Amino acid sequence: MLGNFTYHNPTRLHFGPEALSHLAGELKNYGPRVQLIYGGGSIKKSGLYDQVIAILKEAGKEIFEDPGVMPNPTVEKLYEGCRIARENNVDLLLAVGGGSCCDYAKGVAVSAWCDEDPWKKYYLRMEEPAGRILPVGCVLTMVGTGSEMNGGSVITNHQEKLKIGHVFGPEVFPKFSILNPNYTLTLPKYQMVAGIYDIMSHICEQYFSDTDDTTSDYLMEGLMRSLIHSSRIAVQDPQNYEARSNIMWIATWALNTLVAQGKTTDWMVHMLGQSVGAYTDATHGMTLSAVSLPYYRHILPYGVHQFQKFAVNVWGVDPAGKSDEEVAQAGLAAMEAWMKELDLAMDLKSLGVTQDMLEGIAKGTFVMKGGYKVLSPQEILAVLQESL
Ligand code: NZQ
Ligand code: ZN
Repeated sequence: MLGNFTYHNPTRLHFGPEALSHLAGELKNYGPRVQLIYGGGSIKKSGLYDQVIAILKEAGKEIFEDPGVMPNPTVEKLYEGCRIARENNVDLLLAVGGGSCCDYAKGVAVSAWCDEDPWKKYYLRMEEPAGRILPVGCVLTMVGTGSEMNGGSVITNHQEKLKIGHVFGPEVFPKFSILNPNYTLTLPKYQMVAGIYDIMSHICEQYFSDTDDTTSDYLMEGLMRSLIHSSRIAVQDPQNYEARSNIMWIATWALNTLVAQGKTTDWMVHMLGQSVGAYTDATHGMTLSAVSLPYYRHILPYGVHQFQKFAVNVWGVDPAGKSDEEVAQAGLAAMEAWMKELDLAMDLKSLGVTQDMLEGIAKGTFVMKGGYKVLSPQEILAVLQESL
């Protein structure tokens, strides 16, 4: 573990079929005015909405509803959420839904009492919050993003064709998150597998950086092996609680800052995927799966050692009689076969991307410097072309 770091994760997690029983206790820590944030209606269909409302009423809370958070929450919705929070002087933002609801709640948390335009301040200029930050709690219904235990908040501006994530510090992490794997059982298969790939991508994008011998790499190899194992069970039998609960727990640890310690981290697949999302509004995990293999095959020559380790330790590739590069390539081939088993989007066309969009998508792709190769604008375009 080279370098210096401070590790602190302030989110309290309640996990398991009985997790919601902890909500009443958590609510005692906040004032009476609760902004209830949710999406397009899945929680009403599943009955979770009624359960949460009953707990809030029992706790004597005044509820300010903030429904309609869309997948890939927009800047317009963020402004609306800020208005609700400020006009009603809310004490707690309670997000019930997937990563979009959690991300949005964090965006409102830092923006409600900020007098500047939050899009410009936090997403374009990447400034940190200075004033009042509202507390956030989450009841998670979709797994993948890790938003339940991190400071990430991704907002989409369709007008500017930009989808940007700000990773805030621990003061913006959810104060608590309730993780009941049963809530994820109603997810459509498309969303389930998109979430599984989102998790895989989070781990890969931290794993494929540096060449040191770090504990973080060993942790990530274990998480990836567990994810591959459980995902194979879940695609055959989506109602399998054990598999789905493992996937939920892996998602949290994949992106709650633990495994990033000691790593420079890459994040280019997310930068490409987010720019695709800004143009197409496609499901987040699918934007990642569509660009991953062309990207990894492009950078493989610059990080053969780590790709070889990935092949052997994660995918069980037998290195006997193979060159390092052949072993590394076999690892990516094994990942490709698994991605096809999951029925993930394997190209950008299937997400609605057309040739004429590529230049704009490339332009909207932020270049990160922590991976094995800093991509030039031409390389970004080439990876996108290859992904089409
Ligand atoms: O809106 P409702 O009706 O709830 O439906 C949602 C939505 O349509 C549905 N859904 C969620 N739980 C369900 C369910 N349907 C049936 N049963 C359930 N139990 O699933 C759809 C997708 O939900 P969403 O929250 O958008 O998905 P996800 O959790 O993948 O979140 C995606 C957003 O998170 C951002 C992405 O960019 C995207 O904007 N990310 C956030 C990160 C972070 N905070 O660190 C990192 C990630 O890399 C990611 O970028
Ligand atoms: Zn992601």
